[in-house]
Amino acid sequence: MGLVAQARSVVAYASRGRPPWLLAMRPYYVTTPIYYVNAKPHIGHSYTTVICDVLARFHRLEGRPVHFLTGTDEHGQKIERAAAERGLAPIELADQVVAEFRSLWERLAISPDDFIRTTEPRHRVGVEAIVRRIAAADDLYVGLHEGWYCTSCELFYTEKELGETRECPIHASELEWRSEENVFFRLSKYQQPLLDWYESHPGFVKPESRFNEVKRFVEGGLRDLSVSRAGLEWGIPFPDHEGQTIYVWLDALTNYISALGFGHEPPGDELWHRFWANDEADVIQVIGKDILRFHTVYWPAFLLSAGLPLPTTLWVHGWWLKDEQKVSKSRGNVVRLDGLIEQFGADPVRYFLLRDMVFGQDGTFSDEAFIERYNSDLANGLGNTVSRLVTLSRRAFGGRTPPGDCDDNPLMRQAAEAVEKYLQAMDACQFERALRALSGLVGETNQYLVEREPWKLIQQEEKRDSLSRILWNGLEAMRLVASALLPVMPGVGAAVLAAVGAERPESWDDLAWGGLGVDRELPESAALFPRIDKEKYLESIAASETDVEEEKDPMISIDKFFEVELKVATVVEAEPVPKSEKLLQLTVDLGDEQRTVVAGIAKQYEVADLVGRQVVVVANLQPATLMGIESQGMVLAASDEGKPVLLHPDSQVPDGTRVR
Ligand code: MSP
Repeated sequence: MGLVAQARSVVAYASRGRPPWLLAMRPYYVTTPIYYVNAKPHIGHSYTTVICDVLARFHRLEGRPVHFLTGTDEHGQKIERAAAERGLAPIELADQVVAEFRSLWERLAISPDDFIRTTEPRHRVGVEAIVRRIAAADDLYVGLHEGWYCTSCELFYTEKELGETRECPIHASELEWRSEENVFFRLSKYQQPLLDWYESHPGFVKPESRFNEVKRFVEGGLRDLSVSRAGLEWGIPFPDHEGQTIYVWLDALTNYISALGFGHEPPGDELWHRFWANDEADVIQVIGKDILRFHTVYWPAFLLSAGLPLPTTLWVHGWWLKDEQKVSKSRGNVVRLDGLIEQFGADPVRYFLLRDMVFGQDGTFSDEAFIERYNSDLANGLGNTVSRLVTLSRRAFGGRTPPGDCDDNPLMRQAAEAVEKYLQAMDACQFERALRALSGLVGETNQYLVEREPWKLIQQEEKRDSLSRILWNGLEAMRLVASALLPVMPGVGAAVLAAVGAERPESWDDLAWGGLGVDRELPESAALFPRIDKEKYLESIAASETDVEEEKDPMISIDKFFEVELKVATVVEAEPVPKSEKLLQLTVDLGDEQRTVVAGIAKQYEVADLVGRQVVVVANLQPATLMGIESQGMVLAASDEGKPVLLHPDSQVPDGTRVR
């Protein structure tokens, strides 16, 4: 076997011990959690989704049939309240936020095969099917449910779990005491079956530290779980239990299989049989550590009860932190990536997310860290090395790749090692290690060039062969780096491949040394990554008002407050908005003009009681269209647990009077 062929087989498969023909057949299913639609997406959601996208792209390149699912979790009290606070119907809020998610995924080059919304009929079919199977296993009963409830987690906590503070351990928010009749799931019955499953499936939860945490929790004993809520309107009705709605987590977790057509008649369930109910398939579910218990205890218990197969692996990642706290809307410290994507494109952002966080551990976001990573690995590292090699080759060989290849040199051996490390690390979801292996190879390529000084050989005719070999080796190393970067940076990977005159790999077999052609056209390429002046960049973002500050509730000056024009107005007409339970269309008189304003007060106020009444209106608000009606302002109301209570002046004043 020649060196090239040998390297090819050694590098591509030896480390993983699976023959290519088997890999080519085995389906690969990867899922993100489905995201709540009560707020815009932020860095945490982006991180989970980018990871799944990278896994999907990696395994597609491995030649496996891949199905990558993401979506949104739209039922439950949290969404119902968030919608009420904005004067919207829950589905209207969901539609708006889903559009934000879809747009962000597009801008982040995310390539899902499917996007499921729990408000879709196909999902409901799956949920009803799993509930019927759980009921048939005699795992449901009705009982009284009492405890401290967090509406953000949608979870009851015991006194023991809370300690003295009575605050939610995840959201640090106040809890509510609740007592109601619910349908319960016999979770306690599954303590031993779960422990047995963990024992016989050592790769079920990764990393190991999280698996141990789960085992300890289950060994500590499992209490039955309430799986319905009384009096919750926004959800799926519980089959055979009138007045009860399916608990959002039982509803949400089922998305992973309802999206595949579980519960549907053939052929609607084809994906289900291919990607889940199939021993050959790998089912990989990526989650953050905050939803560990739901996915590693409740979810497998539901599946065991329903007699359905369990996923292969739950991969658990840590949190992005800012100011030492989890980035989240409820903590008010969100980090959005929109600005970075707009300025740098999707790829550097994707690279940063995977490179600056050790998968499984927490990581801290800062703009400074982003710029440093961008400059060191991308602008100075990959970008400079590629541009140097391309410029030299073009000059020496008339705008073409070097005429002679080379299959015995130190760079080749370093490349083989880097590729092997990369493949192993990707298999183990150690993205930061995988990317370090690639930037290590870029560094070694640079070192190789510095030691051989090809720029000095250009004028020496007798050194043409050695110049050809040196440059070809450098370009070939960059071809390998660019190919391996494709799952993480699909655009940049393709651009570098084009820049070095190489083809896109057809499979990971092509990560063997020797794939770059000789004497190929090498077009002049634009700079891949312009270097960024860190200080200037940081100054510029400090000066601009960022999203982060907007969400922090900063103190505002009196001038800023006066920018909001609050005026007294009289309601002259009021009528319900068709097809909406919550919205009313009001005509209000502001003294010198009349306006249409849509308000989410239909449940609390009768139309007849509103006409003639004075209210306070935000008069300089940008118009917004709600259920097809343009609202030219907003009526002020106090929000009492989401229920609006209108504000009005203490005594009659002329319409149009300013409120300050
Ligand atoms: N809707 C539930 C999941 C249901 S899955 C059947 C939910 N949604 S979420 O929008 O709150 O969070 C979804 C994912 O985003 C979780 O995996 C969570 O860990 C991740 N992140 C949210 N904030 C995060 C960070 N600050 N850092 C990293 N990921 C975190 O939970």
